[in-house]
Amino acid sequence: MTRMLRISGERLQGALKGFAEIGRREDGSICRLALSEEDRRGRDQIVTWMQELQMEIRVDGMGNIFGLWGGADPELSPVMMGSHIDSVATGGPLDGAYGVLGALEVIRTLQDAGVVTEHPLAIGVFTNEEGVRYTPDMMGSLVHAGGMPLEEALAVRGVDGSLLGEELRRIGYAGTYPCGELHPFAFLELHVEQGPCLDQEGISLGAVSGVNGISWQEVTLEGVPNHAGTTPMDMRADAGIGAARLIEEVRRIAESIPHQKGTCGMLEFFPNLINVVPQRAVFTVDLRNGDNRLLRRAEEAFASAAERVAREEGLELSRRQLVRFDPVAFHEALLESIEAAAASLGCSCRRILSGAGHDAQMMARICPAAMIFVPSKGGISHNPREETHPEHLALGVEALLETVLSLAGNSGTE
Ligand code: GLV
Ligand code: MN
Ligand code: MN
Repeated sequence: MTRMLRISGERLQGALKGFAEIGRREDGSICRLALSEEDRRGRDQIVTWMQELQMEIRVDGMGNIFGLWGGADPELSPVMMGSHIDSVATGGPLDGAYGVLGALEVIRTLQDAGVVTEHPLAIGVFTNEEGVRYTPDMMGSLVHAGGMPLEEALAVRGVDGSLLGEELRRIGYAGTYPCGELHPFAFLELHVEQGPCLDQEGISLGAVSGVNGISWQEVTLEGVPNHAGTTPMDMRADAGIGAARLIEEVRRIAESIPHQKGTCGMLEFFPNLINVVPQRAVFTVDLRNGDNRLLRRAEEAFASAAERVAREEGLELSRRQLVRFDPVAFHEALLESIEAAAASLGCSCRRILSGAGHDAQMMARICPAAMIFVPSKGGISHNPREETHPEHLALGVEALLETVLSLAGNSGTE
């Protein structure tokens, strides 16, 4: 009987389209940085939708929002779906928002059909998944899973100098529900792949087997500022040259280690003037691998390259680890449920490792967790051109619905 349930692709599209206007900038990109005004407006919209669905809303001390609904047996722990609604500063419409709006569509579909599950259902909307304003990323789910004390998270300073706890209070989402109190029976996150694999292979769904380990660090090189016209080339301590050489090293290291990724996404020079040899360069290094041994090898290779380049260029080096998360393997039985859901929908599905970080990797610390991916057109993400075919968007939500029903148990119609 449950196979007769169909989500509304049109309703989903409408919600995604409307939600993408929150934080939309002139160039079409979406900027809903964690705990910004745009994030607050996004949160308000989600809470309104949850209220319309008669969901019981809880906001914890980290600003994580939980909506609970239904459950023939309220004593059972909830099957939770969820993701995040914050974005990078130049984001697209789907990263995070798709998982939250898709989960709302699941609840709407069940309510329209009058279907009640044995377990209650929950939607989790986690604070600061992106980690671009405040590090680490996946911070809300990390705090929820007990991996970071709340006080420590609230005291984090953002790249703009703001204090996370103050911003949370300012936008009105410093809740009173105790962090980590809600312990799900299972957690499922629906997300766009954000990479090219499914799209290139023409596969409709991904059952995400796990998430890459992530290592973020900030590197500072100190040299001597001097006149660009008068300082002989062999008498310089040029922090800019040191940074350039190390950025090149990151690519070399990534290319020499299997499945390794390496990115320098932020770079600042001081004093940043056309005719001054850079005194200081500060840049970030993002290293990722699904194999922790290989990730450590990349970290070590970068550490020794940094020492060597600093020595050769006469620079002072300091490095600060910002994030270090081990690779995560998702729950086998959940993956099989996702594959069974895909089979029942008659669509292609394959296992896939996530290159991006996700809240599900933190939830995996406290309950069985897994993710469903849909293809990203051209593998583009963290970019306003991020796009997924509407059919795939609907299919992902169908798969989420089927998987949730198989986990939460269908106790019949009201
Ligand atoms: C989060 O989006 C990340 O993987 O950087
Ligand atoms: Mn995301
Ligand atoms: Mn992202």
